[in-house]
Amino acid sequence: MFLSVDVSLELLFVTRNRHKFEEAFNILLPMGIKLKQAPIERIEVQSEDLSEIALIGAKNAVEVLKRPLVVEDAGLFIKSLNGFPGPYSSYVYKTIGVDGILKLMENVNDRSAYFKSAVAFCSPDGKCRVFVGEVHGEIAFEARGSGGFGFDPIFIPYESDGLTFAEMSISEKSLLSHRARAFREFGRWFIVEMK
Ligand code: IMP
Repeated sequence: MFLSVDVSLELLFVTRNRHKFEEAFNILLPMGIKLKQAPIERIEVQSEDLSEIALIGAKNAVEVLKRPLVVEDAGLFIKSLNGFPGPYSSYVYKTIGVDGILKLMENVNDRSAYFKSAVAFCSPDGKCRVFVGEVHGEIAFEARGSGGFGFDPIFIPYESDGLTFAEMSISEKSLLSHRARAFREFGRWFIVEMK
């Protein structure tokens, strides 16, 4: 049986990452919010704080696009590496990648880590809000799975029976991901706000 949802709210998601877009689209659609991708370059400031990075990105993007929108910033925080790569995850992925992280983690017993997502909403009337989500788990000993993106092949959420994010479907990942938690929080607020 299919539940029909009245999709009446439209919103831009400023991202060039099609995986992020697909995940967020599938999370918000059942809540009645239809995302449209705005694949423009977003301003990414240097900061330790994902919420600040996302918020400044959203404030800049709303000045250009003049429409309500969301920007997301996410990162992987590894305990034994003192939170590295954290806010530098995108750069670290592009430079040393999954193999580089596995090398840094060779012979490391404490493999605990978490992903964090910060979703910043801004509207042209100057209203802005940030929503965050986290998922905790462990860094695998080797890369597994072909789904997803980024560090998905080496992240095993505690709630997943040992599967990496890359071994899950999008909908399985979205039952527990950092992104799903942040976007669902946002969605619940946005629906009330738009009434
Ligand atoms: P940003 O939010 O675009 O700055 O992305 C930060 C980086 O963190 C990405 O390039 C990915 O390598 C990684 N990342 C963020 N979210 C995820 C995820 O859901 N799975 C795997 N890697 C992620």
